[in-house]
Amino acid sequence: MVGSSVPKQDRNAEKGGIIETQEDVTPVVLAAMAGASNHRLREVAESFVRHMHAFAREVNLTESEYDIGIDFLNRIGQATNDHHNEGILLADAIGFSTLVCLLNNGNAGATETASALLGPFWRMNSPRTPNGGSIVRSPTPGPDLVVSCVVVDTNGEPIEGVEVDVWQSSPVGLYENQDDTQADMNLRGKFTTDAKGCFSFRSVKPAGYPVPTDGPVGDMLRAQRRHPYRPAHIHFLGFKPCFKTLITQVFVDDDEHLESDVVFGVTRALIGDYRRHDAGTPPAGDVAPPWYTLDYKFVMEAGEAKLPVPPIK
Ligand code: BEZ
Ligand code: FE
Repeated sequence: MVGSSVPKQDRNAEKGGIIETQEDVTPVVLAAMAGASNHRLREVAESFVRHMHAFAREVNLTESEYDIGIDFLNRIGQATNDHHNEGILLADAIGFSTLVCLLNNGNAGATETASALLGPFWRMNSPRTPNGGSIVRSPTPGPDLVVSCVVVDTNGEPIEGVEVDVWQSSPVGLYENQDDTQADMNLRGKFTTDAKGCFSFRSVKPAGYPVPTDGPVGDMLRAQRRHPYRPAHIHFLGFKPCFKTLITQVFVDDDEHLESDVVFGVTRALIGDYRRHDAGTPPAGDVAPPWYTLDYKFVMEAGEAKLPVPPIK
């Protein structure tokens, strides 16, 4: 029926799902999926198929490119285990994690947000640490850092009782789970905000680091001539019932990769004021110059308190 004036959906209905040309594939697949009783599943799956088909048409995908793509996906799965999540790394490295984060926080991306991607290194059950305590759990050379934070609601009122997980890389750019020289849970801690919404801790200044490049995401970065570095940062996860779980990172303001984060996590609101002190009275007897301080205010919106699935154990 080439050149038929019958509308396309009617022609497909007439054909009963028999595919004649490449154009028929999309409506036939969509029709096959139309029985899903979960409305959201149907909406997401249909949109995914429409966009995947449109993508193949737009680039005229060849069969060998299709093979490369399937092999890439398979290798992403094979590179994922209890200690490493290559799937999240891929989503991060193509900006997808940041996009989803901004769409779901800060007024659906309309306002500058204090949220950022989770990344692959959050672990459940960080050690509970008293306010003002140190998260340095094994010798970790580097400049001392004193972090003082307050958590407020959208009216600026302090929130007491927020459980805040903190995790960061060492001054050589490695998380404890990547580095046998660090104690288990080094540079990780769980704090609780006091009546003024405050929590504070001592640490060492984090360094930037390359994301793992020994898997398929590394191959992609090399093919795209991209460097693998993240600017130095500290991760925070704030949890309290009736508030939307806050997942974020606060970046070191003098880092050379602030404008080229390999996973696109930096937003303006998240650049911290890591202030260097070369003189004056140190905040504790065992702190020597130069030391750094970071003061930061987090805002939590009312909403559902839900912990993410830990990317690693
Ligand atoms: C991180 O910040 O820990 C991270 C985020 C994305 C990819 C790799 C690491
Ligand atoms: Fe990180």
